[in-house]
Amino acid sequence: MVKKICVLISGRGSNLLSLLDAQGEIPGHVVRVIANRADAAGLKHAEERGIETVVIPSKDFTERDLFDQVLGDAIAACVPDLVVLAGFMRILGKKIVGRFSGKMINIHPALLPSYPGLHTHQRALADGVKWHGCTVHFVTPDVDVGPIIGQTAVPVLSHDDEETLAARVLKAEHRLLADCVRWYCEDRLTVRGNAVLLRNSVSIADAVQQPQG
Ligand code: GRF
Repeated sequence: MVKKICVLISGRGSNLLSLLDAQGEIPGHVVRVIANRADAAGLKHAEERGIETVVIPSKDFTERDLFDQVLGDAIAACVPDLVVLAGFMRILGKKIVGRFSGKMINIHPALLPSYPGLHTHQRALADGVKWHGCTVHFVTPDVDVGPIIGQTAVPVLSHDDEETLAARVLKAEHRLLADCVRWYCEDRLTVRGNAVLLRNSVSIADAVQQPQG
C-alpha cells in the first residue's frame, strides 16, 4: 500500500525537494507540507508540484502546547502514515511526539549521538573530528536521541570551513533521507529498544563471521 507522507519544514527545503525527486523509487507520496514560517522558501517546491501546503506561524503562539496542538491537528488531518521533520527548527513537546509515536522521523546534520542540537558543523570543526555526517532517527520526546534508522559519514578535510562541510553533509542528507523514507514505506523497519532493524539486509554484526569452537 502506498504510504501517505506529511513533511514539516522551516526554511530552504532542500531535503523536501530531494524527497520529492526520489518519490518514483518510494512506495509513498507527500500529501501535505507544513511550515512553521510563512517565508519558508521550501514551500515553493510543494506548490510547484501541486502539493497542499499549510503554514502555522510558530511566532504567533505564545504557548508552546497550543502550537503543538494546532500543528498536530494539521498533521492528523491528512491522515499520514509517516511524518518527516526535514529541517523543522522547532522542538516538539511530549504530547505531539506521543501522538505520532513510531511514525515521525527527523534528519539531523551530525552523526548522533555526537553533536545533538544546533551548530553541528561548527562544533565538529572546533573539535577537529575527522568524520562528520548525518542521521535519520525516529522522534522521541528527548531531542535528537530517538532510535537511529540510518547514518552517513563524510570526511572532514583540512581545508574545510563551515560552509564546505555543511555542503558535503547536506548532499549526504539528501540521499540518506530518501533511503530511510523508502525503507519505512516498504515496511522494512522494526524498532527494538533503541535499535532499528532493517529487514532483508545483512547487518554488519550478522555479516562478521563468529569465531568457531
Ligand atoms: C538540514 O541540514 C537539516 O539536517 C537541518 O536543517 C537543514 C535543513 O535544510 N535540520 P533544508 O531546509 O532541508 O535545505
